[in-house]
This record gives sequence, structure tokens and C-alpha cells, in this order.
Amino acid sequence: MLRAHEAAATPLGSQSIAVVGLGYVGLTTAACFASRRFKTVGIDVNRERIKRLKSGEVVLHEPTLQPLVRGGLDSGALSFSTNIDDVGSADIIFVAVGTPSRRDGSIDLSQVRTAAREVGAALRNVKEKKIVALRSTVVPGTTAGVFAPTLVKHAGKRSTIGFCYNPEFLAEGHVVDDTFHPDRVVIGAEDSKSRYGLASFYHHFYGADRKKVVMTTLENAEVIKYTSNAFLAMKVSFINQVANLCAATPGCDVQVVAGAVGMDRRIGGLFLRAGLGYGGSCFGKDMRALLAYAKKADVGLPLVEATLAANESQPLVALKYAEEELGSLRGKRVALLGLAFKPGTDDMREAVSVRLAEALLAKGAEVVGHDPVANGNARSLLGGRIDFTGSPEDCIKGSDCAILVTEWDEFKKLTPQTFKRRMRHPFVIDGRRIYDDKKFEEAGVGFRAIGLAKATA
Ligand code: NAD
Ligand code: UGA
Repeated sequence: MLRAHEAAATPLGSQSIAVVGLGYVGLTTAACFASRRFKTVGIDVNRERIKRLKSGEVVLHEPTLQPLVRGGLDSGALSFSTNIDDVGSADIIFVAVGTPSRRDGSIDLSQVRTAAREVGAALRNVKEKKIVALRSTVVPGTTAGVFAPTLVKHAGKRSTIGFCYNPEFLAEGHVVDDTFHPDRVVIGAEDSKSRYGLASFYHHFYGADRKKVVMTTLENAEVIKYTSNAFLAMKVSFINQVANLCAATPGCDVQVVAGAVGMDRRIGGLFLRAGLGYGGSCFGKDMRALLAYAKKADVGLPLVEATLAANESQPLVALKYAEEELGSLRGKRVALLGLAFKPGTDDMREAVSVRLAEALLAKGAEVVGHDPVANGNARSLLGGRIDFTGSPEDCIKGSDCAILVTEWDEFKKLTPQTFKRRMRHPFVIDGRRIYDDKKFEEAGVGFRAIGLAKATA
């Protein structure tokens, strides 16, 4: 990253950029491009978000994004706007609006359609050539069949606009690093001019640190994005199933198994951390959208179905362990350590903690939760039904069972002695494998962990 004084002295990149939709993807895209001196305008319909961004306030819990946004504003390379007409002055327009699930799980393309209409209308009287790159995750055929025709209809012309599909692979919690160091950049395009035009931009953006650029059709690029997410989720669900098998097999520990299995380069060690299941804004949503698309295409995807089903039941493993220890959970106080869908974010979308809390409440348990950053967002989903505390120590105080749900560093510091002192009935379930079972055993604290066979007396 350039420092502010270096940035101010560096000429702006030759191409100017507009990014429409400033969520995790759009804001990161805009801030990273601007940090390399490409004149970038970020546009969103959310007035409050734009007001805060204009004053340098990053609305997402992404600590590395804040300095980039401020640096971009200070250097003049980055600006924010609610006016869609600002796309008219950009050479390349990226669209990164949301693609949530509809009730039946299929993809909701309403934001994509609206953005296409608005960008199209804004380009109606613009003569210069533009590349428009869709960055949202969309089912195959969307860029060519929905996005481009809608935009063209409202622009009233075709010849000066080239369309690309350029999926994003960043993960929340380290969005900036993922953008500067992606494993690959995928560019789907309808024609070679647009494809090479966008590739040339990335060539300038990455400079000496050139990435592997995959240039392909729009449809391949769309399928690549879904396949990546589905495969990662499948890896997690698979190791979670193996974890359950290990837990039921004396002498077994999934961490040892996954470690050795992952050493095979054909398999790879990443995304083999067993736990209480995956959450987040995309894995579930994208696999449901993929299944709905496949159904329409009359193609079965049983592995994707199984991945979703396995993830649905995985949080309940903790409930089973709690019942095995405590019997009925009615009136028992259960502490949830961690509520966000993973550490490093305050995002609660499809967080495992919600499914677990609801299952515990249904069994008559009293639930109390603590998260270092997500208590606020969790309140809007679970407020009134569970209690929240300001510290992990307060969360476990007086409880009968503590379940480690999200592996934040601050929970790693809790010792078996702290659990023993503060809990009414010291019993810990390690849902993310951060604790040393031997130490808990030595301290006389009841302990179960995902994927670890129960210690025999
Ligand atoms: P988000 O919902 O957090 O943000 C979308 C933004 O678009 C919102 O700020 C919204 O106000 C804005 N918007 C909607 N319609 C608009 C319009 N017509 N004009 C201008 N702004 C508009 O979404 P996100 O998490 O950034 O994800 C965006 C897309 O990228 C989705 O398709 C998602 O699946 C995909 N994706 C997300 C991630 C991730 O980590 N969150 C990673 C890779 C891909
Ligand atoms: C995921 C992908 O990793 C990104 O590449 C993709 O761009 C993004 O979805 C998207 O399309 O939105 P994200 O959801 O931010 O990113 O988070 P991940 O780090 O992938 O974690 C997802 C979930 O899987 C978390 O709940 C995490 O705890 C869980 N997980 C991950 C495991 O349980 N075990 C693992 O080994 C890895």
C-alpha cells in the first residue's frame, strides 16, 4: 500500500473507475483500486452509508479497510456519491450489489436488475466506450441474459458498452489482503476487446505482482464462483462428518486425521477445520441458489444438497453433548462464547450461534452469549430471548455448560481454572478446537470437543 504522501505524489492511474454497491465487495474493491491511484468513485443508494463513508468512517468491521478509505479520501483518488450519473465519467464500471436468497432459495436478482437499469440510463447520453463488469455472485446466464440486456435497453445503445463478469473471492475479516493477493483473477467476457480491456486494468493494478488471470466466457466465470464456494463448504461439511465419526471412535481425534489428510497436496490442508458448522452471508445462500438453478436445468447436485443438510445438523452436536452431560436442559444456564459467524467480523448472517441458541431455548435452557464485536448485531436477531454480557468471564458465570462457538483470540486466554471458578457446573464444549483437553481433564473440568473421542475413565 502507498503511504499518503507517496500517493499524493504519484500520478493517477490512467483509467478511472466507478463501483456501484458498497458492501463488503464494492467498498473493498473501490478502496483498494483507489489506493493504487486509480481515480475511483464509489456509489451506493444508501445515503447514510455514503454520508459516513465521506467522513472516512468505514461501516464494516474490517480494521484494514479504514486506513485505505481514509488514505483514498485524503489523496483525492477516492470519492463517494449517491448519484448514479457519476458512472458516466468512469472507463470501467464495476457492479457489486447484493444477490440475496428468495423465499424458495433461488437467487433474488432485483438489485442486479435495478442497478443495470440505473447504470444504463446514466450512460444514455455518454459517447465514450465503457467496460461494465458485474462482480456480484450470480447464477449462470445472468450477465448475458439479464444484466447486459437490461442495461442496454436503458442505455439505448449497444456498441460502446462491453460486458464482463468478474467474480470476487474475498473472505470477510481479511478483505484487503485477499484483494491485493488473490489466488487468481477471473474475467469472463462476451468479446475479446472487453476481456483484454479488463485484463489490462488488472495488469496495471497488480503491477509487478501480477496475478494468474483466467480469461474465459461469461458463463464459465459465473460457474467458477459457485463451484469455488460450494467446494469450500463441502470440504467443511465433509470434515465435520468425519469429526462426528472420530468423536464416536475411541482413540480418534479429527485434528490429527485432518492434519495428515490435508498433507496430501491433492486434497490440501485448508478448510479442513472441523467445528459446529459454517455460517456467513454466502455459503448457504449461494448453494441454495445453485441448487435452484440446477433444478431448473434438470440436473441433480446431491453433494451440494448433502453439504447443506450436514451443516444444518452440525450445531446440534453441541446440544447432544450438553444433554449427555446434564440430562434435561430445562432451566439450565448455557453460555455461548462467540456469536459472529467466524472471528474477525461482526457479521451474524447465518451464524451457527443463532441456530444453536434457538435449539437450546426450545429445550427450555436459559441462554447467555458474548461476542467481542457482534453483540450489537446479535441483539437484533436474538435480543429478548437470550442475555448478553460484556465479557467472557461474565458470560460463563453461574452457567451449567459453556459452548465455544466462535474461536476469537480472547476466548483462547480463558483457563480451565477460570471456567472452574466461575461456572455453577464446570462443563465446557469446545466447538472449534481451541482448548487443550488434557489441561481441562487435569483441572477436573468436564470437557467435550468436536471430533475428539470422549476420554475413557
Ligand atoms: P451487501 O449486501 O453487503 O452490499 C450491497 C450494497 O449494494 C449495499 O450497500 C446496497 O445499498 C447497495 N446497492 C443495492 N442496490 C444498489 C443500486 N441500485 N445502486 C447502488 N447501490 C446499490 O453485499 P456484499 O456482501 O458486498 O456482496 C455483494 C455481492 O458479492 C453478492 O452477490 C455476494 O454474494 C458477493 N460476494 C460477497 C462476498 C462477501 O464476503 N460478502 C464475497 C464474494 C462475493
Ligand atoms: C467465503 C469464501 O471463503 C470466499 O472465498 C468467498 O468469496 C465468500 O465466501 C463469498 O462468496 O462471500 P466468508 O464467508 O467470508 O468467505 O468466510 P470463510 O472464511 O470462508 O468462512 C465461512 C465459514 O466456514 C465460517 O463460518 C467458518 O467458521 C467456516 N469454516 C471455514 C470452518 O468451519 N472450517 C474451515 O476449515 C474453514
